[in-house]
Amino acid sequence: MPQFGLRVALGAALLCSPALGSAAPATVESDLATVLKFGPRVTGSAAGEQARTYFEEQFRALGYDTRREGFTYARFDDLGSDVRVGDRPLSGLALQGTAGGEVSASVILVPGVGTPEDFQKVDARGKVAVVKRGQIPFGQKARNALTAGAAGLIVVNNEAGDLHGTLGERMVLPVLAVTPEVGAALREGQPVTLRVRVHEGEVRGVNVVASKSGVTQPDWLFGGHLDSVTGAPGANDNLSGSLAVLELARRVVSTPIAARSSFVLFDGEEDGLRGSRVFVKDHPGVVQHLKAMFNFDMVGVNVMPLAVGGDSELVEAARQAVPTLGTFRAGGDSDHAPFSQAGVPVLFFHRGLDEHYHQPGDTLADPALIRGAVDTALKAVDAVLGAASAGK
Ligand code: PHE
Ligand code: ZN
Ligand code: ZN
Repeated sequence: MPQFGLRVALGAALLCSPALGSAAPATVESDLATVLKFGPRVTGSAAGEQARTYFEEQFRALGYDTRREGFTYARFDDLGSDVRVGDRPLSGLALQGTAGGEVSASVILVPGVGTPEDFQKVDARGKVAVVKRGQIPFGQKARNALTAGAAGLIVVNNEAGDLHGTLGERMVLPVLAVTPEVGAALREGQPVTLRVRVHEGEVRGVNVVASKSGVTQPDWLFGGHLDSVTGAPGANDNLSGSLAVLELARRVVSTPIAARSSFVLFDGEEDGLRGSRVFVKDHPGVVQHLKAMFNFDMVGVNVMPLAVGGDSELVEAARQAVPTLGTFRAGGDSDHAPFSQAGVPVLFFHRGLDEHYHQPGDTLADPALIRGAVDTALKAVDAVLGAASAGK
């Protein structure tokens, strides 16, 4: 099923593209194909900038004004780290907060996940300790390794694939995460070199705000994040939501809703809701006036049928308008959260975390599902408008 998405997207884009030179109107299909080609839209990256520029052009072609709102923050980046056995490099990923540098020592296989009891069973002093993922936070494993006198730490994933994680704080110990295959290749007593290349630097994020000229106090804000994580093309997370926002703008452009709406593509979501937090902080007047904030994150793959979470009255109105709509508890995990915390009624549209979540395989999103989210959001807006004009 998911594989269907891009094939449909590319096929339709090809079918729709006329002879060279004449401009076909953009569609969800053509937008999807175009933006995916830029690659992962990590905040601060060239691909992120290309994607942003493309969206701005689409909003402007529809007759909206766009503006950029820049912000900066510090981010911890892995510049490429590995564990060397002899001259053979095995891949590893730096856990956020790790010390950088190079450590050469022999391997000690610690039985278990790296609790203090696990470390008591071995002598890890001066060695590169190897523990399994699980049960306790990475930061605690690292603290226990430090207490045991280890010179470095390797955390072996307990499921297939790469392990991205954070220690939760800056540590003086070099810590790498490795796949189960790399973990299985490490032998007790073997000399290894942990090479951890990390950098903490300032990142510049840019939110894009589109609205009809003269709209300074929108009633509705439709938003989604355009950034993605390193290595993931982010088709579902969250080109799908960004395209839903653009498609909404397209659908309402000649209706009264356009004059009451703002459309925002947030940056820096993957680094901790940076863009939405900055927006809420920098626009207290706008935020206070909002009747609702609609957030779209991962609406292009149907892990579950489309569901909404958030403000209970909005959820109720949306479900009355679209009875098949599922519900879930919306937590603090996407751009609606800072709005919700500021007292804005939010409605978060989501179809679940697919199997390629935050992975290189996140290349598929189904335009029909994206449009489905837009249809539903518009019905919900109508329902809420109806309730408001009925004096409720
Ligand atoms: N906001 C998360 C991300 O962008 C995705 C997510 C959505 C997680 C909903 C949990 C619930 O990675
Ligand atoms: Zn994500
Ligand atoms: Zn997301």
